[in-house]
Amino acid sequence: MDARFSIASNGGVDITSASMASGRKILITGTTGRLGSALRRHYQGRHQVLAPARAELNLSRPDEIPAQLGRLDFDLLIHCAAMGSPDQCEREPALAATVNHAASTALARECAARPAQMIQISTDYVFSGEADRPLDEDDEAMPICHYGHTKRAAELAVLSACPGALVARVSWLFGAGNSFPDQVLRDAAAGKPICGIEDKWSVPTSVHDIALWLEALWDQQPPAQGVLHLCNSGRASWRTYAQEVCDRAHELGILPAPVSVQGSRLADFQGFLARRPQHTVLSNQRLAQLLGAPVRSWQEALAEWLAVSSASFLQRQGSL
Ligand SMILES: NC(=O)c1ccc[n+]([C@@H]2O[C@H](COP(=O)([O-])OP(=O)(O)OC[C@H]3O[C@@H](n4cnc5c(N)ncnc54)[C@H](OP(=O)(O)O)[C@@H]3O)[C@@H](O)[C@H]2O)c1
Repeated sequence: MDARFSIASNGGVDITSASMASGRKILITGTTGRLGSALRRHYQGRHQVLAPARAELNLSRPDEIPAQLGRLDFDLLIHCAAMGSPDQCEREPALAATVNHAASTALARECAARPAQMIQISTDYVFSGEADRPLDEDDEAMPICHYGHTKRAAELAVLSACPGALVARVSWLFGAGNSFPDQVLRDAAAGKPICGIEDKWSVPTSVHDIALWLEALWDQQPPAQGVLHLCNSGRASWRTYAQEVCDRAHELGILPAPVSVQGSRLADFQGFLARRPQHTVLSNQRLAQLLGAPVRSWQEALAEWLAVSSASFLQRQGSL
């Protein structure tokens, strides 16, 4: 999908020609991933975007980062890259600590020295998941798995090494790459039964909305800094999320027949190695205040993305 988006007055996203042209020199890490690829597509053309591949900026060797960054000209770093699979982090804890924590620290030091603005992408998994209410930026972070610990350590290190940095916590990303809705649609189109955990809650969030929010935030004077939750409005369980995907996809003709998503319990799920926090619904009140507009719901953002992408979904199903 390569449509351009801009923030609508209701905090949502209009598919219109984007207007801002502040001409930043942006270095984005992780541009083969879901969020990084979307940010790169949104900003290319209006900003100078550097998107080093892993061979040019390998986060598993943090001591090489100063030399590697020294060759790159940028005034804003958006650090998306991470070892993002909680189970992989559990299996390879030392590598996870290096990639997620030590490399972020090295990047933050370089940004401070340059100086360059830094946006560190973080996660709802910094929370323990015990509190069944929207969590705001001042709620205590208490991770329960190694992935969460490495990302929390990175948050603290970045804020300490690079005063003025923005730590942007996101959750349940969709809109690029292989995300949860893509998996649900692939399985549903293949006629497989769809089952979703019904007692684990968070906020599905559009990578395209994140691209717009970040651009609005870094342009503010002074730019947003500290910890900020970047998510759409509302809450979902894996089950209600999957059901919404199937219902909208059926309306759009992506799925030929309605699909009823079955529920399962987190405690009964055997497939996870890492512990998962149960309630990590992020509050986006601070984001709405900074944007000066309400933030649209995840359902609205999802419906728009499915509508814009329906042709490519149908094409892929044709080639199944
Ligand atoms: N996905 C979610 O729902 C979610 C939820 C909460 C928070 N987040 C956070 O959001 C950010 C982006 O997540 P995502 O889902 O877009 O990630 P992703 O799709 O898993 O992509 C990860 C990216 O990091 C790169 N990477 C991994 N190890 C690397 C290394 N050693 N050196 C250099 N690059 C490396 C990958 O490059 P290769 O292609 O070379 O492997 C890839 O570009 C992450 O910080 C994640 O913690 C994501």
